Amino acid sequence: MNNKEYVHGYSGREALRLNDQAATLDSIIHNDTLFPKGSYILEAGCGVGAQTKIIAKKNPDSKFLSIDISQVSIEEAKLMADQMNLKNVEFEQADLYNLTYKDETFDSIIICFVLEHLKNPKQVLSELSRVLKRGGTIIAIEGDHGSTFFYPDSIEAHKAIDCQVKLQSQNGGNSNIGRELYPLFESVGLSDTFISPRMVYVDASRHNLVEGFIKKTFTPMIEGVGEQAIQDGIIDRLTFEKGIKDLYRTAQPDGVFSYTFFKGFATKN
Ligand SMILES: C[S@@+](CC[C@H](N)C(=O)[O-])C[C@H]1O[C@@H](n2cnc3c(N)ncnc32)[C@H](O)[C@@H]1O
Repeated sequence: MNNKEYVHGYSGREALRLNDQAATLDSIIHNDTLFPKGSYILEAGCGVGAQTKIIAKKNPDSKFLSIDISQVSIEEAKLMADQMNLKNVEFEQADLYNLTYKDETFDSIIICFVLEHLKNPKQVLSELSRVLKRGGTIIAIEGDHGSTFFYPDSIEAHKAIDCQVKLQSQNGGNSNIGRELYPLFESVGLSDTFISPRMVYVDASRHNLVEGFIKKTFTPMIEGVGEQAIQDGIIDRLTFEKGIKDLYRTAQPDGVFSYTFFKGFATKN
């Protein structure tokens, strides 16, 4: 996968955004990311380690192998783990389509904000299921841009969001994959599938989410695809800039913003 194929990019700003996103969403998406003591866990697509530092700290008696296709991200994640003195994580460069681990190596697997980028998420889930032990659990966390609503509403803001949906789709990904987690899990033969929607509802009374989610996570993510979308003729500059302005506008005292993540759990029988 090259940089153009990965719609969110590998830039320093994107690394910062992923860290802000993880910190902001910690209590919403990871409150129940808890594994039995002594588990050996594969974190698939760890990026710069933004989720790693949260889940490894929450599960100090488990060991993590965190992998990503990007060697640059792996190096950054290693640095973070050293700085945080995380002793229960190892990092490795690996391709989720071609894992070299033996069948039934891991007690649990977690994959967070990765399936949305993949051309063939079903193939990757099958591969992850292969390396998961019988009785083991897989957790997948994904967003779904179709779940976004806000006040004041804005046609231009919806159009700006749609730029990412279109670009992601042109690259074979799917920004609306959250709603597909259930059928995806079922299609690879996993059992006991349970999907838990996690709504991030923001108004001015939730100051941390105004800053952390509207201003530092969601809007910068959409902003980040602007130049590409304009270049590709998906949108004109004026409409895109108005859309971004209107997304930031939802962070004003009378504004409201809502987005839903989907956390899926399934077992290998
Ligand atoms: C949006 S980032 C999410 C990173 C991290 N899970 C987080 O939530 O901060 C998606 C990651 O998936 C990785 N990725 C995409 N395709 C991959 C593949 N085939 N094998 C391994 N990693 C892959 C990318 O390199 C990127 O780091």
